[in-house]
Amino acid sequence: MKHLLSIADLTGADIHGLLELTDHMVEISQRTIPKVPALRGKNVVSLFFEDSTRTRTSFDAAAKRLSADTMNFAVSSSSVNKGESLRDTIETISAMGVDAFVIRHKSSGAPQMITRWTTACVVNAGDGWHQHPTQALLDCYTIRTNLNRRDSFEGLRIAIVGDIKHSRVARSDVQAFTALGAHVTIVAPPTLLPPSLDGWPVEISHELDSILPDLDVLYLLRVQRERMDDALLPSLREYSSMYGLTAARAARLPAHALVMHPGPMNRGVEIVVDPADLAGSVILDQVTNGVAVRMAVLFQLLGSGGDLKGDVS
Ligand code: NCD
Repeated sequence: MKHLLSIADLTGADIHGLLELTDHMVEISQRTIPKVPALRGKNVVSLFFEDSTRTRTSFDAAAKRLSADTMNFAVSSSSVNKGESLRDTIETISAMGVDAFVIRHKSSGAPQMITRWTTACVVNAGDGWHQHPTQALLDCYTIRTNLNRRDSFEGLRIAIVGDIKHSRVARSDVQAFTALGAHVTIVAPPTLLPPSLDGWPVEISHELDSILPDLDVLYLLRVQRERMDDALLPSLREYSSMYGLTAARAARLPAHALVMHPGPMNRGVEIVVDPADLAGSVILDQVTNGVAVRMAVLFQLLGSGGDLKGDVS
């Protein structure tokens, strides 16, 4: 594996391998000094052309726990504002010696383009509506550990609810969950579904209430108000009344069911109840697992035989 651009590039066995590697990274993260020298001397550069809180800091923490050097490229104060092209930006930074780029960009396919302009590994941290592979991996890891499904998701019933149309998380999660064997239902009003669902291995529902009692995982998406160019929803209140997670809806879930959300949450829209009051909420586990999963990805791409034992001295 040279780059991580899309879940579609991975087989179920590849995903499984990365989740196994994540177990080691969790163990490292729980040590008193959660740091190993595995990627010492490697240079990881984050290029975020879109806002982010958790993904950016999570990659940064992951690289540091593996002792890589990190550079954060602040797009808002860079020559991009003077009209420098993406290609020139990448070639310029590459010339300083980069081993991996972690990139988020509003255009689908930007990470793929970048692979042509650098010899560094490229990790997609979210491109437009297209893909967000490390989010899908951390979601798989969270389900795997919380529902004790080490080997397969066969028989698990997962619903992904909300703004599927604009969601790179939904696209990546559908591919990853089904590659591991889960049965996925996507739940949304017709206006928030992609124009074509050809090739999506999912069931579709426009209604949430009746499927709640059968679920193992309820995955809520953020309503992406910044990506909606036209009125796709009559009102947020109406969306919330049909699809928002209220205490009454949560009570209809089986006791073991997990509630997940990639963040950031629109409280009062897709999630009406306080997640802290939900027994099944694993939303903060997702954030914690995000660091370990990204350590696994960076190690897989850059490790080249570096070992995970030993402390930093
Ligand atoms: C997601 C993203 O940016 O794709 N957030 C994240 O990475 N945790 C989902 C979202 O913005 O709704």
